[in-house]
Amino acid sequence: MTFDYKVADLGLAEFGRKEIRLAEHEMPGLMAMRAQYGESKPLAGAKIMGSLHMTIQTAVLIETLTALGAEVRWVSCNIFSTQDHAAAAVVVGPDGTADEPKGVPVFAWKGETLEEYWWCTEQALVWPGGDGPNMILDDGGDATMLVHKGTEFEKAGAVPDPKTAESEEYGVVLSVLTRTLAEDPQRWTTIGRNILGVTEETTTGVHRLYEMHKAGALLFPAINVNDSVTKSKFDNKYGCRHSLIDGINRATDVLIGGKVAVVCGYGDVGKGCAESLRGQGARVIVTEIDPICALQAAMDGYQVTTIEDVVGIADIFITTTGNKDVITADHMAQMKHQAIVGNIGHFDNEIDMAGLYKTEGVERVTIKPQVDEFRFPDGHTVIILSEGRLLNLGNATGHPSFVMSNSFTNQVLAQIELFTKTAQYPTDVYVLPKHLDEMVARLHLDALGVKLTELSKEQAEYLGIPVEGPYKSDAYRY
Ligand code: NAI
Repeated sequence: MTFDYKVADLGLAEFGRKEIRLAEHEMPGLMAMRAQYGESKPLAGAKIMGSLHMTIQTAVLIETLTALGAEVRWVSCNIFSTQDHAAAAVVVGPDGTADEPKGVPVFAWKGETLEEYWWCTEQALVWPGGDGPNMILDDGGDATMLVHKGTEFEKAGAVPDPKTAESEEYGVVLSVLTRTLAEDPQRWTTIGRNILGVTEETTTGVHRLYEMHKAGALLFPAINVNDSVTKSKFDNKYGCRHSLIDGINRATDVLIGGKVAVVCGYGDVGKGCAESLRGQGARVIVTEIDPICALQAAMDGYQVTTIEDVVGIADIFITTTGNKDVITADHMAQMKHQAIVGNIGHFDNEIDMAGLYKTEGVERVTIKPQVDEFRFPDGHTVIILSEGRLLNLGNATGHPSFVMSNSFTNQVLAQIELFTKTAQYPTDVYVLPKHLDEMVARLHLDALGVKLTELSKEQAEYLGIPVEGPYKSDAYRY
């Protein structure tokens, strides 16, 4: 069997396979999915296009989806986040060789240009034979966005001039769509029509889905995986608690203890980031726009103030907001010499990189891949990680396996739900039912030696909840 793919180097597959083997042991939720559904293959007939950081953990997810019967094509959802050995191992597959790959088509490598990134996304959305996928598994919503924008412009019969795009990246998207409209004016309409649903991994992608639904533009149903408790309250928090400082350390090896670190945003990601920086001995200052999160940060013992108040005294700045222009070029002009500036939110506009590139007299000195120093005319520099893209995946290897097992077990359950019960999900944005969320948590207890207390029948009656759960109402916030 031959198939199309594009990765950095298939010679890395053996290394990737060894790390996948180690990761499988740390991903009990995904392995339980294989044990439970490997024979019945509920995803047989599913053609899943995945757009999610092509890491070792994602390799275990991909091979779980195929073990459940799915056909898969995959890309990374960020130009810097691919682990090339993981991508190679997935293409080669457990039974293939570099000369005769038998795995899954992957189009991803670390350090793609924007043009290459969108080329990869396009490749994974077109199935051999010309049709498209029937499911999307998205992280940040880029694949979903391409299908929706393509459909919108095909209906209009024209694509806006890429030169008028609000960002360089959107200009690239418009160029791709201009070309595809000329090649096949029905391409995205057909692909969109065949998609049964999308399962979305992250806060930013979920935000995009709700916006599209509100505007009446959503083409197919979506499951918001992010808001499973076992995703956002674990991956976003404990995952970032681990991978934020991993990224800072690999990039700079600066001692964090004693430094002043500013964390912009105190949502799930911000909470994990602030805790990890404090754990290293930094004095952490939080900025927030939401009074509830600001109060939480204050009660957790952090100083809460505005970025303007601390821009000249802090050593490390981390954005975690999913918002834009949180750190501007003007802020960076006022920072201390060699202040470290990084983003762990989904897109690169949290730090105004476009503004920085345009600032007169600012010079860029690349220290190593994904670490750049920007020198201002007064001589001071700031160190920017991963060109403002999420630093835990750009400078390190993202979240570790155990926490991703929680997130990805939710992804697998969501794919099974939407694919096998399509009629029960008219176009809207859904979250998984709580009993599945509790099941995901349960699957991860044994590995940590957790002993759960069992409710007695009398206690369950007293609380008015079933002995076997769900234990909380949907409004409970954890
Ligand atoms: P969240 O909504 O829980 O938290 C974001 C917080 O930022 C909110 O409390 C909000 O009030 C605050 N905020 C918004 N604008 C602000 C501003 N101008 N200044 C200060 N605070 C501001 O979202 P969550 O789940 O924490 O996700 C944040 C971002 O991180 C999203 O883009 C998400 O997609 C991404 N993410 C990244 C991960 C990674 O591995 N790098 C993992 C999980 C999520």
